[in-house]
Amino acid sequence: LAAMKITISEDKSLPAAKKIKIRDIAQHIGQRVEIQGWIHRLRLQKGRAFIILRDGTGFLQCVLTGDLANAYQTLTLTVETSLYVFGTISKLPEGKSAPGGVELAADYYTIVGLAPSGKESFTNKIQEDLDPNLLLDRRHLALRGETLSAVMKVRASVLGAVRRVYQEEGLTEVTPPCMVQTQVEGGSTLFKMDYYGQEAYLTQSSQLYLETCLPALGDVYCIQESFRAEKSHTRRHLSEYTHIEAEMAFISFEDLLDHIEKVIVKTVAYVLEDPVAGALVKQLNPGFVPPKMPFKRLQYIEALDWLNENGVPNEEGNPFKFGDDIAEAAERKMTDTIGVPILLTRFPVEIKSFYMPKCSDDPRVTESVDLLMPTVGEITGGSMRIYDKDELLAGFKREGIDPASYYWFTDQRVYGTCPHGGYGLGTERILAWLCNRFTVRDCSLYPRFTGRCTP
Ligand code: 4AD
Repeated sequence: LAAMKITISEDKSLPAAKKIKIRDIAQHIGQRVEIQGWIHRLRLQKGRAFIILRDGTGFLQCVLTGDLANAYQTLTLTVETSLYVFGTISKLPEGKSAPGGVELAADYYTIVGLAPSGKESFTNKIQEDLDPNLLLDRRHLALRGETLSAVMKVRASVLGAVRRVYQEEGLTEVTPPCMVQTQVEGGSTLFKMDYYGQEAYLTQSSQLYLETCLPALGDVYCIQESFRAEKSHTRRHLSEYTHIEAEMAFISFEDLLDHIEKVIVKTVAYVLEDPVAGALVKQLNPGFVPPKMPFKRLQYIEALDWLNENGVPNEEGNPFKFGDDIAEAAERKMTDTIGVPILLTRFPVEIKSFYMPKCSDDPRVTESVDLLMPTVGEITGGSMRIYDKDELLAGFKREGIDPASYYWFTDQRVYGTCPHGGYGLGTERILAWLCNRFTVRDCSLYPRFTGRCTP
């Protein structure tokens, strides 16, 4: 009852508060500030309330004392309530700990939106032992958690770092369409759509478009959503993922391999250098060892020998033979055992895409590469591209693809063809590796996979 009588009001004689973000707190020690954020954690004691405030740039401990702590409004605060908090920042004394080593002695606060309590409370909705499906239904709330939000921050840093690397390497960013009428990686995973009465698809890869840009813009890249109707539930397949793709003109297969490892090594280095993302990677994946150049290179044929020598069977449970696909389980076993990044090269023609050229010294295999990382396996797939028109048409024929709708792609081989190659990187897979996540679903903002398109 006493608490009901206490009214909270601002002492107008205090110095004006400067509105700041938590990330800038260290520059404001001793000053009165205003922070706007959400209650991440809450501890109410007699005469003292501790709020861990979150504003998207960091976490800050706010301490409420006296009437401010005892007021009814404070006693009925809930986690995820949004607030404006006013107070003075101080360094924490030795032996006490809080995020950033500082705390805010609050002198006033106002509630913007009071979050529910009881059954509808945030803590009740997002419990650690919640069924993963329910957690996905509540992804909009789960994203506020420390782990998911940390992965999303690292994700932003990865995308920024990769753009920086491409700029340094002289590649130009382009934005190809997502609605297309051609396939790149096989008809079985195409998402079909009705496009004003015509059949169209959601893009599986922007590769073909990037190829057409080479004579216009030189080396190019894009960061675009790709879509795959993957029927199986695995740790590393999404129906929609953020595809980082690059394409380069007048390169050799060796140049392509060198470029891929350079992009990975530099991107990871920039993320680790980033004060925010670097610290988050350490927190999420304390044992992370940044990859070093040069990466181990292994030919498909050598990988088969390794698998057979180490008793890893193919999908039918038999020893591997030439032409077998090295499926996810076997690939992971091999990569985890070898324990370093592997550039796996020269896959057989029949298990690879229509556009991949044959190796001049062995026509059974192609100038193709997958980059495999311990704990996730394949994070990158790439190849040189057939640049002779007739050879390309034979590739279409082999795969049963009608070349008519690819006229613009074959024209690239007509009007000044050139040797070229490129690759695609799965953003969520890089993140699963970098942040040590069990599945790529934890690395996508709102993951899409079989049966899930909500929220
Ligand atoms: O190996 P993929 O299928 O290669 C291509 O699409 C080429 N056309 C790319 C190119 O050369 N421009 O896919 C490339 C990468 C894979 O290594 C993987 O990291 C990721 O894209 N990826 C997926 N990530 C999540 N969910 C899926 N369903 C994925 N499919 C491929």
